[in-house]
Amino acid sequence: MAQREARSGRVFSGIQPSGELHLGNYLGAVRHWVTAQEARNAFYCIVDLHAMSLPWEPAELRARTVETGALLIACGLDPKRSGLFVQSQVPAHAELSWILSCVARMGELRRMVQFKEKSMGASESVGVGLFTYPVLQAADVLLYRASGVPVGEDQRQHIELMRDLAVRFNRRFGDTFVAPHAEIAASGARIMSLDDPTQKMSKSVGGPGSKVLLIDPPEAITKKIRSAVTDSGRRVAAGEGKPALTNLITLYALAEGSSVAAVEERFSSAGYGEFKSALADLLVATLAPIRQRYDELISDRAETERLLGSGAAAAAEVAETTMRDVRARVGLPERAAPS
Ligand code: AMP
Ligand code: TRP
Repeated sequence: MAQREARSGRVFSGIQPSGELHLGNYLGAVRHWVTAQEARNAFYCIVDLHAMSLPWEPAELRARTVETGALLIACGLDPKRSGLFVQSQVPAHAELSWILSCVARMGELRRMVQFKEKSMGASESVGVGLFTYPVLQAADVLLYRASGVPVGEDQRQHIELMRDLAVRFNRRFGDTFVAPHAEIAASGARIMSLDDPTQKMSKSVGGPGSKVLLIDPPEAITKKIRSAVTDSGRRVAAGEGKPALTNLITLYALAEGSSVAAVEERFSSAGYGEFKSALADLLVATLAPIRQRYDELISDRAETERLLGSGAAAAAEVAETTMRDVRARVGLPERAAPS
């Protein structure tokens, strides 16, 4: 039987409201979401259910969910063009997740690097949700029959798993899902920590000095870049054995929209100090409009909540169409229309 292949042209991606967004999130993912919304049918989801896979504070989760929504809008996502919504407001995500968990295998989930990293060997005592996390992620994407999933490099394995689940489901129950693929940018897909260039910049790991937050005030950005670790030597050059400079030069090139080679050339006779102040200034200028828009939006949370609510209503329509198909195929009864 012909698989539904990656032809829908729709994109779907998600982000956890579990911490404050940093430059890695922006350069590796969100920036591409903004570009994709222009030409393609796009759905972007704030995955609050995923944020419950590690211990959480209810009040914090609720606040961060709206704040993440406001920040995504501030980054340029336009709720009029793309679907922007909160995962838990579309119950079909949890429902499909259960069905897919009956299709997924223990062995394939056990191989997930993120699970291994986050459970850090304590796999008997972590929550079951951390283990089944990739199944919920598969449900997110498959519900919308999206073909492309713009993410950073760290999500590649999860996207491969959702492909496998889509193909297995389609073979067993008939052609239902699109098998999605990861869309990973050549540059910026893995921004590294500022104080340890062997670790990725991460919401959950690393202290304040390891990442530039999108809403950091200018002084904080400047301080973090000035204290970022560098490599031995003096030349502002990227490459093998220079992980710290490679990361900083990549940040410069991405923020400016140029290339690593162009940045190396420009700073060929500069020292680390001069390069770092130029980078700090550039990042301050790049992030200033985002922060300003965010401050405006967050002063009226109700408006962001309203936008997210209408995003959820639009998403639920698409999701429900898929679920009707899924229920029929797996042998669940039809659901009475709400009266
Ligand atoms: P998360 O912070 O894990 O919720 O990730 C949200 C999105 O940002 C995902 O698409 C990640 O792949 C991407 N991302 C997270 N950290 C980085 C990083 N250090 N470099 C590039 N992309 C990242
Ligand atoms: N697991 C992703 C991350 O940590 C977030 C996510 C949840 C996601 N559902 C998704 C990403 C669906 C892409 C598509 O970054």
